[in-house]
Amino acid sequence: MSSQSLYKVPSDIANNALVNNDQYKKMYQESIVNPEGFWREHGKRIDWIKPYTKIKKTSFDDHNLSINWFYDGTLNASANCLDRHLEEYGDKLAIIWEGDDANEQRKLTYAELHNEVCKFANALRSQGVNKGDIVTIYMPMVPEAAVAMLACARIGAVHSVVFGGFSPDSIAARVIDGKSKVLITADEGVRAGRKIPLKRSVDEAISNPDVTCVEKVIVFKRTGGDVDWVEGRDVWWHSLMEVASEYCIPAEMNAEDPLFLLYTSGSTGNPKGVLHTTGGYMVYASMTHEYVFDYKADEVYWCTADVGWITGHSYMVYGPFANAATVLIHEGVPNHPTPARLGEMIDRHNVNILYTAPTLIRALMAEGKEPFNSYKGDSLRIMGSVGEPINPEAWRWYHEVVGHANCPIVDTWWQTETGGILISPLPGATDTKPGSATRPFFGVQPALVDNMGDLVEGTGEGNLVILDSWPGQMRTVFGDHDRFALTYFKTFRGMYFTGDGARRDEDGYYWITGRVDDVINVSGHRLGTAEVESALVSHELVAEAAVVGYPHDIKGQGIYAYVTLTRGVEPTEELRQELRQWVRKEIGALATPDLIQWASGLPKTRSGKIMRRFLRKIAANEVTNLGDSSTLADPAVIDTLIEYRLNKT
Ligand code: WT7
Repeated sequence: MSSQSLYKVPSDIANNALVNNDQYKKMYQESIVNPEGFWREHGKRIDWIKPYTKIKKTSFDDHNLSINWFYDGTLNASANCLDRHLEEYGDKLAIIWEGDDANEQRKLTYAELHNEVCKFANALRSQGVNKGDIVTIYMPMVPEAAVAMLACARIGAVHSVVFGGFSPDSIAARVIDGKSKVLITADEGVRAGRKIPLKRSVDEAISNPDVTCVEKVIVFKRTGGDVDWVEGRDVWWHSLMEVASEYCIPAEMNAEDPLFLLYTSGSTGNPKGVLHTTGGYMVYASMTHEYVFDYKADEVYWCTADVGWITGHSYMVYGPFANAATVLIHEGVPNHPTPARLGEMIDRHNVNILYTAPTLIRALMAEGKEPFNSYKGDSLRIMGSVGEPINPEAWRWYHEVVGHANCPIVDTWWQTETGGILISPLPGATDTKPGSATRPFFGVQPALVDNMGDLVEGTGEGNLVILDSWPGQMRTVFGDHDRFALTYFKTFRGMYFTGDGARRDEDGYYWITGRVDDVINVSGHRLGTAEVESALVSHELVAEAAVVGYPHDIKGQGIYAYVTLTRGVEPTEELRQELRQWVRKEIGALATPDLIQWASGLPKTRSGKIMRRFLRKIAANEVTNLGDSSTLADPAVIDTLIEYRLNKT
């Protein structure tokens, strides 16, 4: 690693930051040597109704899994995000909202947000929602999405947010799994100038005969567009709010009571419901938000993630609001209507901290620096990246063009399962290297193991595991604890397996190399190849399908599908488009295959297992060094696939 690639912490940042490098080292050491003492102290950053006396009871033994933090304490997450700020910050802005159309702007103070949340919490109760019920939220990026989440938390209901880009079938699967009685949605969302018919998707999801649990659908009026209405089932958000009382005592929840479910893709089967609980999650989300972004009380913080992903939960809602931050929420996409939008919004709202994804940076990069000609960017102090490895070119571009070469970049590595950031620079402490997520957060013990499960010491590469629990960790897969144990704790006994590969350099910095399982990462969104395959084979003309990721300039990874058609079916361009639309309809737009290659056969072992290793290489156009194909039932299949790849796509 040449010294040129090291970006030193700017001295003004180090001098004013929450922690400098010496403090980081000291605190990290303490957090590992004495986790009980460390978290006993830092757990106090949250207001507890009944203070905890117990700190940590955790075991990663797959036969005896247990993850408990602060477990005799009680608290309420919404009170921590709202009530406790009212005295000092009641008039401070909690939300600055900018519509897809920049002429639409809304602002809510902490007092106003508190009021909305209390009323909507009462509205939920009036619709029969009780403590422990799972409420499904399918909302556009409007302040009411956060209101709905915090209102659930206030009465102890468990929210399950479904990303607004997912299909009716995907909504149905999640509603069924959580047995949701109540669904919250909007008439339509607005993104990039287009209206998204959310209510229509919800109607379609509920029309699925397997969905029998839904009693009420609460509809927020965003656009006023036409919607179908089911009397007795559908109710307008505003009608409920007109009559709702403003007074709502936050429910007293145990630290280990569920806060929310969020479904995410794995390497096998359907998306799993990742369950997060209340106490440890709130401590961890708020602490990482404050330290990783070095958040200061008067700053404007903008996270471009959608509320449907974990980033939207931990770093748009729970973390920042617990820290009384002013959060900019954008309804649309930051490069629409023009690539200048991102810079315009930073200047318009004097954004101090920006948290976004490599895919956006690469999309902007492709447009050149022009759109940033009139961008000032002088408010910006810290910039974050999340969702996938950031390539050094994109990192540098982000640093120079958006950050004017004086804002530290925090490349934050974490997962839906981890609840919060596990590996990241701290702005005042960590010299950065483009492409490296650098060092672990307090209390986090990453390690690398080889495929046999033996620890890799010093510099080297391996499977990324975490050796001990941290407060924000998921507690179970909803309804399937065995799957939790199997997925995360069985591959490498006694360790949490992340599914990622990583390299550790001579400074102890981690470089995430990407997934080592059958999960692909498209524009920072996680997809199981098995899900896309199962969508493809559900089409009557498809006999078999195998899906892999391949390098894509903007998305990081694109979706490459090998499809074997039913005998006698003619492969046409029309059918190719039909299959792409089919997958889009089954799962959602983000799962649409980028490339479909017709395959008369797939490379399989004699026992019938598809050898994706070959398919990944062919998709990536790395066809010269494929490796040993002697274990294949029919090695000739490979030549046919390569020939097709070279000639047709
Ligand atoms: C997977 C988790 C964490 C919120 C967004 C995605 C990849 C995430 C980074 C990063 C390299 C990253 C990993 C991880 N990933 N952040 N900074 N550098 N890779 O959450 O959908 O649960 O996906 O995203 O592969 O396992 P998710």
